[in-house]
Amino acid sequence: MCLGQIQEIVNAIQQKGSFAPEYGIILGSGLGGLADELESPIFVNYNDLPGFPISTAPGHMGRFVFGTLAGHRVVCMQGRLHYYEGHPMSSLALPVRVMQQLGIRALIVTNACGGVNLDFEVGDLMLIEDHINFMGTNPLIGPNADEFGPRFFDMSTAYNKTLREVARKAAASLSVPLRQGIYLGYTGPNYETPAEIRAFRILGADAVGMSTVPEVLAAAHCGLPVLAISLITNMAAGITEKRLDGDHVIEIANSRALVLRSLVKQIVADIPPQLI
Ligand code: HPA
Repeated sequence: MCLGQIQEIVNAIQQKGSFAPEYGIILGSGLGGLADELESPIFVNYNDLPGFPISTAPGHMGRFVFGTLAGHRVVCMQGRLHYYEGHPMSSLALPVRVMQQLGIRALIVTNACGGVNLDFEVGDLMLIEDHINFMGTNPLIGPNADEFGPRFFDMSTAYNKTLREVARKAAASLSVPLRQGIYLGYTGPNYETPAEIRAFRILGADAVGMSTVPEVLAAAHCGLPVLAISLITNMAAGITEKRLDGDHVIEIANSRALVLRSLVKQIVADIPPQLI
């Protein structure tokens, strides 16, 4: 996936309006409602963009929403792509690269996930400090797109420290409790086994989910600072007697969406002009 293909998509978007978003926001399962906060929204469906993969996951609309949030121009992905949908891993880098070419200066990622840390509770928000890629693959495998970044790239500051500090302060100012921890990316589509969850806890995971890791890898490759926040929609497999089910995940995500919405809005308002 080269710059030419990305540019074609960017051109198609630019024909619908002269957007110059400052921030990209990826909305996780059941969290798409954040786009309702945007002033003067303009919708661009993925299926109107040449070569753009279609998002099929439940609770994901499949469109970009451009607009203003807390006085800043943003683009939201109302519907993300997941590896388990059958997209080649490399196509999960595409939306991030499109947003980078549109000029965003930071990427905010949200997701619904399972709590692995036994101190967590359903409904908690967790600031991602770092991740473990347990997907067994990587969206940057293949010829390197030199226009975006180097073949071998550093991940030690992928989850930007300044943005994390902004998020902590924003949460405190809104009196929203914010956990911190490590997100482990798993392919799905099944929820994990109890044995896997015990193993992931030993590995250092606090939360587990089926997204985020590919997008953060693509963002780090092209030098985009990332802020990522997880919503714990359930305790991971085997922690409680409850069976895991996708409808329940969406239900809990919907019930906590407003809190996450207000937090993201405050963060966007507070991001300093210079990011270190
Ligand atoms: N595991 C993986 N992905 C998830 C979970 C989970 O428990 N909950 C929501 N997304």
